[in-house]
Amino acid sequence: MTNLTEDQDLLTQSATFGAMTEATPLDWQIIAAHNRVFANAVAERVIDHLRLLDGDCGGFAVDRLEHSVQTATRAYRANRSEEYVVCSLLHDIGDTLGSYNHPDIAVAVLKPFVSDDHLWMVEKHGIFQGYNFFHHLGLDRDMRDQFLGHRAYDLTVEFCQEFDQLAFDPSYDSMQLSEFIPAVEAVFAEPKNSIYLDEQGQMIGTNS
Ligand SMILES: [Fe+2]
Ligand SMILES: [Fe+2]
Repeated sequence: MTNLTEDQDLLTQSATFGAMTEATPLDWQIIAAHNRVFANAVAERVIDHLRLLDGDCGGFAVDRLEHSVQTATRAYRANRSEEYVVCSLLHDIGDTLGSYNHPDIAVAVLKPFVSDDHLWMVEKHGIFQGYNFFHHLGLDRDMRDQFLGHRAYDLTVEFCQEFDQLAFDPSYDSMQLSEFIPAVEAVFAEPKNSIYLDEQGQMIGTNS
């Protein structure tokens, strides 16, 4: 039986346990087969979630989706890497759920797929962006200084100053969100960091 045929057979089945302690190896082969299909569509779900930012301006001159696409467009046109552009596109995806810590949501989504430096850039962009507005709200615009000397400090300054803080311009000719989908699919194609990777870097439960 080929792996494909085996998977198709497993996809017709469901595990039967009501408690995990009762599960059999076959139950987990079934679940792993279903998860391979589900995980393959994670990029599509991420884009769908990003679209939730459409129409919510939050007092800015552009909505949060336009801000995201404009940030990514500026990074793309400045010849930044595919992974950087995808981080730019998704850096504010957590605005929907993380009203008080939105960068952490993007970090959770991106963590299996991007480099440590890009992840740090996304994680810290909220503090580094504060250089551009914290002083208007009585906060310390130099809060980023606590990270002076960090390997990704300059990278994060550049992201906020060259791309993120500029991306509120209603007259800017942004690319279409659809133009970024191939890059998102490429970055999300294979996890690099996950507790579900085995010693060979393969997802557990994969049979190919
Ligand atoms: Fe942000
Ligand atoms: Fe932003």
